[in-house]
Amino acid sequence: MRALVTGATGFIGQHLVRHLAARGHEVVCLYRTPRRAEPLQELNVRLVQGTLEEPRGWAHLLGEVDVVFHLAGVLKAFSRRRFRQVNVEGTRELLQAAAQQQQVPRVVLVSSLAAAGPSRGGTPRSESQPPRPVSVYGRSKRAAEQEASRWADQVPVTVIRPPIVFGPGDRDVLEMFRPVARFGLHLVPTWRVPRLSLVHVDDLVPALVAAARLGQCISTCPEQDQFAGFYFVAAEEHPRYDQLGRMIAQALGRRRVLVLRVPGAVTWLAALGAESVARLRRRPQIFNLDKAREARAGSWTCDPSRAMEQLGWRPGAPLQQRLEQTIQWYREHGWL
Ligand SMILES: NC(=O)c1ccc[n+]([C@@H]2O[C@H](COP(=O)([O-])OP(=O)(O)OC[C@H]3O[C@@H](n4cnc5c(N)ncnc54)[C@H](OP(=O)(O)O)[C@@H]3O)[C@@H](O)[C@H]2O)c1
Repeated sequence: MRALVTGATGFIGQHLVRHLAARGHEVVCLYRTPRRAEPLQELNVRLVQGTLEEPRGWAHLLGEVDVVFHLAGVLKAFSRRRFRQVNVEGTRELLQAAAQQQQVPRVVLVSSLAAAGPSRGGTPRSESQPPRPVSVYGRSKRAAEQEASRWADQVPVTVIRPPIVFGPGDRDVLEMFRPVARFGLHLVPTWRVPRLSLVHVDDLVPALVAAARLGQCISTCPEQDQFAGFYFVAAEEHPRYDQLGRMIAQALGRRRVLVLRVPGAVTWLAALGAESVARLRRRPQIFNLDKAREARAGSWTCDPSRAMEQLGWRPGAPLQQRLEQTIQWYREHGWL
């Protein structure tokens, strides 16, 4: 496979690039920040600098590959405009440039459960349910999916919607592990304890590759399911948030963990404080008002059956084992 990976320097991108390179695929990595591309230099891959906003310098590469894994995106930002610029307009630019190639590549668009929204009535979301994103981030990811549907008659696109992704190298979910590791404390940000879907990055990456090979593409036929070509990829377990705290504690080798439910007002105040500090430092943080909005919206679970049936995908290990592997990596690298 000849593949172009956008967002190659990110958490998921680095895992995907290593996976592809280790299997002998030809990989072109689009990177934005030279420092972040350093770990990729040791791999047998081609590095090309560029941004989604300015595709002119690299758009021709789209015609030289079979597959584009589109991972570049913004998960935390201070403004609606920034989410739109990168997640929506960046995706549109990429699809438009792909459509202009003589040989149009297949695109695997990495979206998010946030684009679909929280699950309702205790049932994990399925792909065919109408999306109801609740956050600015989620709405931008949904708008990117809509761009993919708009271009579907010219560019074959498969959409993967992961829930929370965790694993080696990730600093965002690390913030969930830290209070359990340091103080034996797990804070639940709502009174009604939600359930969560998660996926380990080593399980997500094979699903992205399988999507490129076997995934349906978004349908252009109005009679067909408008969400054909969309896949949730998640662990089969979806623990309650308090249970997840206990699973993390077990993975850390802690016998006890104090699970503390936090009233909504406290969550909002903490998010406001965290966002104010981040703004002063001019560095967006993962815990912010937009994330508080998601945290307060109920359960975030999704059903991976379609990916299992159509992509032949299975998680490589149970969630508990994946948590243990991640914590071991954090410890070995001095992050915990
Ligand atoms: N992590 C999760 O829990 C999760 C869950 C669901 C979906 N996703 C989706 O998965 C994708 C990858 O997420 P991640 O966790 O790997 O995020 P990440 O670590 O923040 O990586 C984001 C990547 O996008 C690149 N990027 C950002 N803006 C860009 C721009 N304007 N032009 C070109 N490249 C740009 C970044 O480049 P720099 O290195 O230069 O910053 C980085 O390589 C995203 O689309 C995200 O929405 C993630």
